[in-house]
Amino acid sequence: MTVELDWENLGFAYRKLPFRYISYYKDGQWDEGDLTEDSKLHISESSPALHYGQQGFEGLKAYRTKDGSVQLFRPDMNAERLQRTADRLLMPQVPTDKFIEACKQVVKANDDFVPPYGTGATLYLRPLLIGVGDIIGVHPAEEYIFTVFAMPVGNYFKGGLAPTNFLIQDKYDRAAPQGTGAAKVGGNYASSLLPGNYAKDKGFSDVIYLDPATHTKIEEVGSANFFGITADNEFITPYSPSILPSITKYSLLYLAENRFNMKAIEGEVRLDELDKFVEAGACGTAAVISPIGGVQHGDDFHVFYSETEVGPVTRKLYNELTGIQFGDIEAPEGWIVKVD
Ligand code: PLP
Ligand code: COI
Repeated sequence: MTVELDWENLGFAYRKLPFRYISYYKDGQWDEGDLTEDSKLHISESSPALHYGQQGFEGLKAYRTKDGSVQLFRPDMNAERLQRTADRLLMPQVPTDKFIEACKQVVKANDDFVPPYGTGATLYLRPLLIGVGDIIGVHPAEEYIFTVFAMPVGNYFKGGLAPTNFLIQDKYDRAAPQGTGAAKVGGNYASSLLPGNYAKDKGFSDVIYLDPATHTKIEEVGSANFFGITADNEFITPYSPSILPSITKYSLLYLAENRFNMKAIEGEVRLDELDKFVEAGACGTAAVISPIGGVQHGDDFHVFYSETEVGPVTRKLYNELTGIQFGDIEAPEGWIVKVD
């Protein structure tokens, strides 16, 4: 029995659900892992995750389909990205099977909280890998915790599919050119808190960061990747070693090329060439596709398509992506993993 919640107005907020998965790594191996009702982590005060940021996380969603079943969207991609994050921070990898099995267990155990089909809401899963134990020098931990918890969510940005405005940031970077920008680690988000709060106080949805070396190219949004659509039917999204390789972005590159006959390009998005974009958006698991109305850069305010209406190509891509995620449109091979 699904619980009764205001499914259409959930926003993006933590909610403590009955069950989460937890697994411990000790003496060079992962234990079996299990579901638990305990939502608190019991870790050493000296855990490297707390002091030196030795941790990484993921974000993916479970979708209720029309027939009432539940499915995950490309969880193998999240597992592989967490493995790359683990490699970068000298943490043990969580095998793909273990990762997907953990996600499935959490979805099944909290089935009452998987939002009903048609509400647009989803169950957001947050896998987390942290280094723990009694270590105070700057060393990798010897023990780790892998946990997956979940909560029902709606829109990440207030507008949903209505465009909102973003602030291009010159003063702060979220990551260094050869730093940890491509890994999903808390440190990248810690550095984004101050500029993010400033932008939100000024009424923007989020910050758009520039390439940290030259500040001449758009890199990504604080919580999502950036894409632009040109009048020549090109889908362009930045390529850089310091942005998070977004699974949504790679899915859109594929769909743009293979289903809409667009030219899909990972390349440069120069600040002095914004005029070539007739539409732009932010894409990510939480953000889904959030149209960007305008961007503020210094005194300049640049509108892409419209500050109030979503552009036709952005809408088309949104319908295709979410249609696949909710099981209404046939998915490319291997993109959907059924939970039941
Ligand atoms: N960029 C950042 C900084 C993010 O936090 C996210 C969210 O995961 C993304 C991009 C989008 O990645 P994905 O589409 O894999 O969720
Ligand atoms: C996600 O989209 O899953 C993310 O991790 C973004 C996060 C900032 C909410």
